[in-house]
Amino acid sequence: MTSHFRVSNLTKIFGSNTIVDELNLDIEDGEFLVLLGPSGCGKTTTLRCIAGLETPESGSITFKDRTVFDASSRVHVPAYKRNIGMVFQSYALWPNMTVRENIRYPLKVRRMKEAIASGQVEAAAEMVDCGALLDRYPSQLSGGQQQRVAVARGLVAQPDLVLFDEPLSNLDARLRDQVRSQIHQLHQRLGFTAVFVTHDQAEAFALGDRLAIMKAGKIEQYDTPERVYETPASDYVAAFIGMSNRLELVRGHDGWMTRSGAPVDLDTAIVDGRHLRGDAAVARLRPDDLTLHRSVDEIGRGRVAFTGELVTSEYGGRYFDVTVTAGGEPLYLRAEAFHHGSWLRTAAAGAPLAVSFSPSALRVFPSPGGKVDDLPVPELVHTTAGAEA
Ligand SMILES: Nc1ncnc2c1ncn2[C@@H]1O[C@H](COP(=O)(O)OP(=O)(O)O)[C@@H](O)[C@H]1O
Ligand SMILES: [Mg+2]
Repeated sequence: MTSHFRVSNLTKIFGSNTIVDELNLDIEDGEFLVLLGPSGCGKTTTLRCIAGLETPESGSITFKDRTVFDASSRVHVPAYKRNIGMVFQSYALWPNMTVRENIRYPLKVRRMKEAIASGQVEAAAEMVDCGALLDRYPSQLSGGQQQRVAVARGLVAQPDLVLFDEPLSNLDARLRDQVRSQIHQLHQRLGFTAVFVTHDQAEAFALGDRLAIMKAGKIEQYDTPERVYETPASDYVAAFIGMSNRLELVRGHDGWMTRSGAPVDLDTAIVDGRHLRGDAAVARLRPDDLTLHRSVDEIGRGRVAFTGELVTSEYGGRYFDVTVTAGGEPLYLRAEAFHHGSWLRTAAAGAPLAVSFSPSALRVFPSPGGKVDDLPVPELVHTTAGAEA
């Protein structure tokens, strides 16, 4: 499969800070790529480079067969000639233009007179359920309506690539879900190619054909949402996608255990086709994969069990979000209200309990240097010849 859009070895430096660091992206035609990462990791800067609003220090950017940027051969196609649609966090509608004029704007600057005459503005407004708002000014619209108009403006000229920079962040929770779903439906219907930036893992999983998880100007994992969810590439990715339980593990005479000596059976934990070797590791576990018990006697064979105590619990409808200390660590779990609600409602902090999990739910990573005192970083050894690292 040939790549439609390609960002190669892109580097952007501000002052003495490397903000985008030899970044690579391949985006297929019609693909919805989500760039996911915490605030400050360089997402907006990457989008601005793709759009032509920043000049990178090195690297290249190609659209289809056309090079729009190449630092080594000094190619720099200006932003207005890149045929890109953009949707920002702040809706960025022009306040002195009506909805119709706002949506029409990209067609005007591209001199697409026929598109205007054939009703493309009205069709774009209709597409986001704003057909009745064409003569209003932005100040007469709700936030959700403004952002839908901004989406219509981003798509109206049928650009080669649509860039979304956290477009849902300023909306309240209910509207955010609505506009998200609308963007998803529009993508399914129109099949445009998109790069969508967010720091929100739920948004990323919901929208992305693929996710690029970004850390300090680099891509840490580039994969389908399912594979990112099932096999996060690193401790950083695992933490970012909600595996909030972190266990530092060491290997003792009797096998693996937590720092406080609670045994953890890692014999079955073969990571990505690789056996874990060495004496220290980090394991991640989702709150949903940790089960609450009143006593260790309830826990079946084959599960890792820790005794511990209650820290706090928060009601969430069908479940409680529960914080405990167990196996010497603070751990987070979701407990079904049906089974545990009456106890959690009355239990005081410090109440004794037990937790358990299946070792297969653990995702295990080499321990970063220095995290576990003086223990060597474990090696990951391939078990099958030719398996991918
Ligand atoms: N024009 C600029 N001049 C100097 N520093 C900048 C500029 N734009 C962004 N930065 C810095 O680059 C880093 C990444 O910013 P940004 O790309 O906006 O991150 P994100 O969108 O992931 O939150 C931040 O530390 C920010 O302060
Ligand atoms: Mg940003």
